[in-house]
Amino acid sequence: MIIDDRILSGSERIIFALEELYLNAGYTPYRMSKFEEYDLYANNKSFLVSDRVITFTDTDGTLMALKPDVTLSMIKNLEDTPMATQKLFYRENVYRVSGGSGSFREIMQTGLECIGKVGEDEIAEVISLAAASLRKVSGRYLIVLSDLDVTETLISLMNIPQGRSAELWNAISGKSVSEIYRIADECGSPRDIAERLAGIVSAGGSSAEMLDKAEKLLAGTPAQTKLAGFAAVIKKLSDVGLSENAVIDFSVTGDVNYYNGIIVKGFVAGVPSAVLSGGRYDRLMRSMKKSSDAIGFAVYTDVLPGEAPEAQCEDGYIGIALPKGRLGDTVYSLFTKAGYGCDGNEAGTRRLIFGNDEKKIRFFWVKQSDVAVYVERGTADIGVAGKDVLSESDPDVYELLDLGVGKCRMAVAAKNGYKEDVSRPLRVATKYPNTAKKYYLAKGRSIDVIKLNGSIELAPVLGLSDVIVDIVETGTTLKENDLSVIGTVSGISAVLIANKPAAKFRAERIKEITDRLKAAAEQKK
Ligand code: PRP
Repeated sequence: MIIDDRILSGSERIIFALEELYLNAGYTPYRMSKFEEYDLYANNKSFLVSDRVITFTDTDGTLMALKPDVTLSMIKNLEDTPMATQKLFYRENVYRVSGGSGSFREIMQTGLECIGKVGEDEIAEVISLAAASLRKVSGRYLIVLSDLDVTETLISLMNIPQGRSAELWNAISGKSVSEIYRIADECGSPRDIAERLAGIVSAGGSSAEMLDKAEKLLAGTPAQTKLAGFAAVIKKLSDVGLSENAVIDFSVTGDVNYYNGIIVKGFVAGVPSAVLSGGRYDRLMRSMKKSSDAIGFAVYTDVLPGEAPEAQCEDGYIGIALPKGRLGDTVYSLFTKAGYGCDGNEAGTRRLIFGNDEKKIRFFWVKQSDVAVYVERGTADIGVAGKDVLSESDPDVYELLDLGVGKCRMAVAAKNGYKEDVSRPLRVATKYPNTAKKYYLAKGRSIDVIKLNGSIELAPVLGLSDVIVDIVETGTTLKENDLSVIGTVSGISAVLIANKPAAKFRAERIKEITDRLKAAAEQKK
């Protein structure tokens, strides 16, 4: 039977092509019910893309869920075969909160799993199929590979307490070198190990180039042995012709409670987030009491070209989101110094977009708290935001460079002579509720957060709060309102951020801008 192509949507067409690909590679289709007991997801929440699940009560009173994920059900229901390999693929509708909409969507998802005995050959096969999947989606794709064992072995030499490990992984996935050093210093990690970690995480490049760099950076550490295992898999991949579109990037991570070994992410030009994600997950198998090993990936069909609501501008211009106001003026002058000044930004105009056609760059003036939104969603390739707003919203972007301008600090302040009443929760007024919660959680102090949007200093003066968590620059506002600093949360400065796929597809141009800004910032010091 031949199906008329016109009845299929863009993503359905891709999904059927992928199924054909997996079938031809010897994988068997796996079908399942739409429902699963809720407990399965409650016990493995951090494995899910989103921890929100649609639940309902079955006729016998059991709490059930509409499937938000396929892998967990497959593992639960499959026979445990550590000595034999099961190769399966699926196409299922899953139900989860998608994208920035914040609402539930029914998403058709496809992917494959290789479960049981997983050796180098199986790994190479799955990664090759991931690359072939991306090729079906777009001619311009990149497959990005990393190895968690390498990164984890290096981290194990840094004396990072368990409570701070998530923070360090977050800094790694954001390529934030300054954060890695800050955490390492605070934990008393050996400086040379922190330098090696910062080195492998911030670098990226073709597989041969990157393996070479990593080999030098990891020499003499136990991570070098792990790298050798990873290099053997990469070599196998090169033998099957997968090198042109393959990039090694150690900032690509996965939840270390589930994943181990090789991690894979796939990007296609024009889509502002990963379209494919997966890796080796023996640890998830163990946590579900299975002794089989496993590797697999899923293709996120809700972000495929034609399905995503917005796509990156593909006219060759680099889009740069700048924060309006004082910080923006300082940052723009840094760009001018770096050779990216534009004619259309005469003082006094209200134009929000202006550019430099010769340099092929375009600036947007946006509200400071919105810079990361534009960059994360790929409307801007890069942008500049204060560390305060980045820590608060924790966007999925790279932090490429601390520009060293817009310096101030996030502090706790109270009325002069304030004495804390430790018998009740502390009332904290702030524009930065997540930052405040994190700060007091680490201190073990319970707080009542009062979210305000400005003039924060008024809150303790009028008795709305005991203290504030806010930015202090010159200290004038505090002084003039009879307040003083009683604690420092963190130092702040402006950071150059980048959309993750853009940083890969436009690596050379973004690197050039970063290097020139770095030189301009150095001169300014
Ligand atoms: C910020 C911050 C403080 C003030 C600190 O407010 O919230 O109020 O600057 O600066 P200073 O130490 O130099 O006095 P902003 O100007 O952004 O206005 P807002 O009150 O509307 O937040």
